[in-house]
Amino acid sequence: MVETLENILLQVSKSPIIDEGKLEQATQLIIKSVIQGLAINRVGIWLYDDESACITSTYLLDADDGEQSPSTICANNFPHYFAALKRERTIIANRASDHPATNELTDYLNKFGIVAMLDVPLRHRGKMIGVLCCESSRANRSWTEDEVAFVGILADIYGRAVSAAERVKYEQLLIKHNEDLEQRVAERTQSLEDALNNFKQAQDRLIETEKMAALGKLVAGVAHEVNTPLGIAVTATTHCEHRLKKLKQSFEDGKISRNALTQYINDTLDAYTLMNSNLERAASLIQNFKRTAVDQSSFELVECSLGDYISSLVISLRPMVKKKKVTIQTHCQEELTIKTYRGALAQVITNLISNCAEHAFKTPDENHHIDIFVEKENTDAVLRITDNGAGIETDIQHKIFEPFYTTARDDGGSGLGLSIVYNLVQRKLNGTIDVQSQLNKGTTFTVRLPNIID
Ligand SMILES: Nc1ncnc2c1ncn2[C@@H]1O[C@H](COP(=O)(O)OP(=O)(O)OP(=O)(O)O)[C@@H](O)[C@H]1O
Ligand SMILES: [Mg+2]
Repeated sequence: MVETLENILLQVSKSPIIDEGKLEQATQLIIKSVIQGLAINRVGIWLYDDESACITSTYLLDADDGEQSPSTICANNFPHYFAALKRERTIIANRASDHPATNELTDYLNKFGIVAMLDVPLRHRGKMIGVLCCESSRANRSWTEDEVAFVGILADIYGRAVSAAERVKYEQLLIKHNEDLEQRVAERTQSLEDALNNFKQAQDRLIETEKMAALGKLVAGVAHEVNTPLGIAVTATTHCEHRLKKLKQSFEDGKISRNALTQYINDTLDAYTLMNSNLERAASLIQNFKRTAVDQSSFELVECSLGDYISSLVISLRPMVKKKKVTIQTHCQEELTIKTYRGALAQVITNLISNCAEHAFKTPDENHHIDIFVEKENTDAVLRITDNGAGIETDIQHKIFEPFYTTARDDGGSGLGLSIVYNLVQRKLNGTIDVQSQLNKGTTFTVRLPNIID
């Protein structure tokens, strides 16, 4: 191939424009190179439509008149020309008006004064997509082999540029798609976070309500319990008043006997003793309850002697289990002191005992009992709260700490009790809790708490 053509090809082939995906610029470069290499003035890229029935000039350059507006020619008007294109071979027409493939284009040839035509197939991914059409108005133009090869190589380079444009288009689509996806993921994440926040807030509110409900149950139980000694004291006072009135009457009537007076004094003393012991019992119940109630709502880190604290807490909790005739006993061999949140611990034990009353023991029975063992294990204090009640079926044991899991929905259970216990033990008290249970034998909750103080 002559050197000038080789140089042009080298320039075009090396140009970054070809592979950058800018098809318009690549097309212009190729067309101008053809014009320069073949020294002609009209060159165009003509592309097939989808049915390959027509070709349209997507870029047609006239060296003198510049870029031409697109024109279209179709197979039904120029069957021989289209039949020749279909063979996918280069059409070399040195005298276009005589060549069997191009002679039917007379009007077009005359209009632009075209004498010779060189049509080279354009291919993309092996399929013919159109022609690179070179037109010369010079008489006696005969296309050389070098020129045909030169245009053939440029046509292939055009195919390369189409591939690059396609690649860039898909890359951009992919980037856009990714951006859309990221945007959608971000939106979705945000809405999930919002939903989660709402859920957490709702859960916190429920937990607060539930804590108050536990306190409410305790208040009701203690109020009921205090009522008994107060009732006895009131009856004893009424009895004393009644006896005093009778004594007064006898005194006014001058009928008072020594015996009657002694009897009165003894009765009254008995009544006062009864009143005193019952009022003291009521006072100590109230005292205990006050401590528990205050503890349940205050969450301060304090030193706590477990045995003493749990024993006095249990006194407040007894009314809760009294209806089912349950006895609660605390077993603590050595006094253990830990640094802990007493209020949280009180909540934990209250909920566990309340669950025994509600789930472990269905009917009243003297044999029902709850034992609370306090033991030391290394640097941990271990509390075992054991009942000899109904037990929990094995396949639901792993669910009982989940919020809202309850087997007592119909009796007003919310299923939050043990989830509160679990959270308090794990998060507030830095400990662990687990459960062992056997159906019809009973249940043991083991709470392990750190920070024993020696
Ligand atoms: N000591 C126990 N004996 C038998 N079953 C128990 C015992 N403690 C808990 N359970 C079971 O665990 C379930 C969950 O207890 P949780 O305290 O979380 O909810 P609840 O007591 O049903 O409702 P709430 O405490 O909100 O009133 C109970 O419904 C019950 O089936
Ligand atoms: Mg409960």
